[in-house]
Amino acid sequence: MSIGVDSKEIQEHFNKLFSSILIEQQKINKIKAADEDKKEVLAQKLKEYEQLKGRGFFFPFMASGRGHGPFVELVDGSVKYDLINAIGVNLLGHSHPLFIKANLEAATSDAMMCGNLLSYQEPYELSKEILGRLTKSRLKHFWLACSGSFSNDSALKLLWQKKAPNYRLIAFEKAFAGRSIAMQDVTYNAGYREGMPKSIEVDHVPHYDYKNPDKALEKTINALDALIAKNGNTYSAITLELIQGEAGFIYGTKEYYKGICEWAKKNGIYIWVDEVQSFGRTHELFAFQMFDLDQYVDVVTIGKVLQAAGTFYTEELNPKPGLIAGTFNGSLAALNAGKLTVKYLSEGHFYGKDGRIADLERKFFSKFKTLAESTCKGKLNYYGGVGTMLSFEVGDASTDLTNKFLKKLFENGIIAFSAGKDPVRVRFLLPLPLLDEHIDEIFSILEKTILEVVV
Ligand SMILES: Cc1ncc(COP(=O)(O)O)c(C=O)c1O
Repeated sequence: MSIGVDSKEIQEHFNKLFSSILIEQQKINKIKAADEDKKEVLAQKLKEYEQLKGRGFFFPFMASGRGHGPFVELVDGSVKYDLINAIGVNLLGHSHPLFIKANLEAATSDAMMCGNLLSYQEPYELSKEILGRLTKSRLKHFWLACSGSFSNDSALKLLWQKKAPNYRLIAFEKAFAGRSIAMQDVTYNAGYREGMPKSIEVDHVPHYDYKNPDKALEKTINALDALIAKNGNTYSAITLELIQGEAGFIYGTKEYYKGICEWAKKNGIYIWVDEVQSFGRTHELFAFQMFDLDQYVDVVTIGKVLQAAGTFYTEELNPKPGLIAGTFNGSLAALNAGKLTVKYLSEGHFYGKDGRIADLERKFFSKFKTLAESTCKGKLNYYGGVGTMLSFEVGDASTDLTNKFLKKLFENGIIAFSAGKDPVRVRFLLPLPLLDEHIDEIFSILEKTILEVVV
């Protein structure tokens, strides 16, 4: 154990508690319908919560706190495959032993949270662990935050401080960067900033055109050149969401991203990669590593899978004291879990061509192919994505049909979510602990649901 009080007695209780919790959680190991007597409890709690929040939920979902691997139990006793994982958070699945350990260890400590005037060993150990995985890049520092949006705000501030008064920013069309006042302008979808005043100057350029890959780089570079021609070189940075989650997992090639990075370097514009959703989920720990962009990145932001969030930056971009701070880094349990996650993912056999993630991707693609060419021909017209970030289109890929499909899929035992607009895609952010028998069952539920919904 790394934190808090320790004694022989605590160790004994710890070991017993750890195995008792795991044994109980492991009982949640297959999908199941709601218990008749608990249906009303879930409906009532959701209704009250919706009133408290002032808005309804997309799915009638409230977790009970029980779940294991890909399975999550709801308050009504139903158990479902969780293939969205709180939009990407639970890559290790539910009740992973590392998380049980992180929570129990945190209980031996004397506080809940860490912060800049509340420094503990956990943020130090997490920073050391994760920066140790970035030695091929120039990234030297890591500043923790409590959300992906806030880590993006920190990124923007330190870039602005360095490049003042060149405050303009370049982002891709269809990008999503979070919900802060600045990030809502980086985000492409205007529906997410209805009634908001514009707070920062962001110019959006076309991302990788997967329908015309040969011309994709040229198209983006032409748009970038046009920006400089119009506004002069008043740009601080270009932000690259390499695998666009909200767009339904659109991503480019190594050559495409290298071409953009070369353009940015030539123009003295910093390169900031937003890995809030992609961290941990592709063929390397960081997606920029998968695309061989180590030498280019100046700033990288992460969140979600880490159970915390933060901003990496180079020596050159280390901001002046006073610019970035804040009360909290995150909870002791979350930062401990983050450190254990990075170690586990890096030292296990997850990445590379033969890693577990590439293997999962291959299995899902082969199953999608079979469906698309057989029983669901004409009803499943696209599937794609990378690693554990996969998506597909059902029927005409309209909002109405996709939402109807997602709700039916939920009823049938799988939680997924939508992404994109024209076309709307069904998005999976897969957990790692998926066995072949789970994948077979998932695809028979998908087939059944597609046939029920798409006529
Ligand atoms: C690419 C990207 N950036 C930023 C964010 C914002 O992160 P958070 O919701 O933790 O603020 C998200 C969240 O979905 C994201 O996908």
